[in-house]
Amino acid sequence: MLQVMPDMNLIDQLRESQAHLVEVRRDLHAHPETAFEEHRTAEMVARRLEACGVETHRGVGRTGVVGVLRGTAGKSDRAIGLRADMDALPMTERNTFAHASRHIGKMHACGHDGHTTMLLGAAEYLAQHRDFDGTVVFIFQPAEEGQGGGREMIEDGLFARFPVQAVFGLHNWPGLPVGQMAVHTGPVMASADEFDITIIGKGAHAAMPNLGIDPVLVGSTLVQALQSIASRNTHPVDSVVVSVTKFHAGEAHNVIADRAELGGTMRAFRHEVREATEAALRRICSGVAATYGVQIDVNVRHGYPPTVNSAAEAALCATVAQQVLGNNHVHTNMQPTMGAEDFAYMLLEKPGCYVWLGNGDGEHHHDQAGPCTLHNPHYDFNDHILPLGVAYWVSLVKKFLSNS
Ligand code: NI
Repeated sequence: MLQVMPDMNLIDQLRESQAHLVEVRRDLHAHPETAFEEHRTAEMVARRLEACGVETHRGVGRTGVVGVLRGTAGKSDRAIGLRADMDALPMTERNTFAHASRHIGKMHACGHDGHTTMLLGAAEYLAQHRDFDGTVVFIFQPAEEGQGGGREMIEDGLFARFPVQAVFGLHNWPGLPVGQMAVHTGPVMASADEFDITIIGKGAHAAMPNLGIDPVLVGSTLVQALQSIASRNTHPVDSVVVSVTKFHAGEAHNVIADRAELGGTMRAFRHEVREATEAALRRICSGVAATYGVQIDVNVRHGYPPTVNSAAEAALCATVAQQVLGNNHVHTNMQPTMGAEDFAYMLLEKPGCYVWLGNGDGEHHHDQAGPCTLHNPHYDFNDHILPLGVAYWVSLVKKFLSNS
């Protein structure tokens, strides 16, 4: 039976008993650490887990930390994985409040300081209230921002050493009001692959184009042809992005360049579409090469796969979110985004669900008026949502590891 009103009891209780979490979050914000250098952050997480009696494992996937907590409400061998990311971005903060970054060139501009704090808050609460039947595995991962810390933890034996039936993630979402969540069934974030294309033509005097092979003309054809992947090759109901974002060639007005270099990104929500897009890119490049008699080299760097929530776990998360925040505050039909997220690797291994928690529109932000968007030098995590995130994690654990 779903409650209509938010679970204010739990949220209020958390707000009172965990007032210290704002300090934790702001301390993390002031001391950001980037990919695989989260030594201070990881040590702080590990010590707090140990302090509340959670079995703690350091150095999983280099700077990752795992906490294991067993419930006392039964003898179930079921286990749930909850994951938070700990890393900051290599960018300089422009905020001037007291907890602004103390390290030039490093900043918590994606709210991972808040994610880490909320999962710590859940660990602390659940360690005090072990009224669940099974095991909670708290996963604090490094290097979400582009360097695949989640994959590193998996390769280091995360799910072999700490087996779980399902794994769950959460990201704050600017623009979504405080007190609201979004839960997607299926794709929530896209794959992100980068490509570099080198066109090796033949340089010549610009007044004698017949003596050369112009890579700028070939590149222009290629940029246009690549747009046919989205418009002509992909099922109209599927989504794909192919963006050529770089095109470098030539130095002088009277010289036909001998080569051109193009680069860009490919994004998709489904594994099959991702593979078909890369195959089409390679096919078009070799076709254009044959047409113009040039050599075209293609180099694709695979980034994160699409983040795809499994149906049963998404339904569970939506139910829990409704219980915590109220029926009308949970969106199940919001558009996914073409950003990428390395929780995707965990969802390739286990069923699970990655949800968005509203970070508001910037009303918490005293340093700067207006929206407070991710990866912006004025971003700040909204401390008002700390108890909401903790309440969601706690309620999800109790639901997943319920013995009734
Ligand atoms: Ni992020």
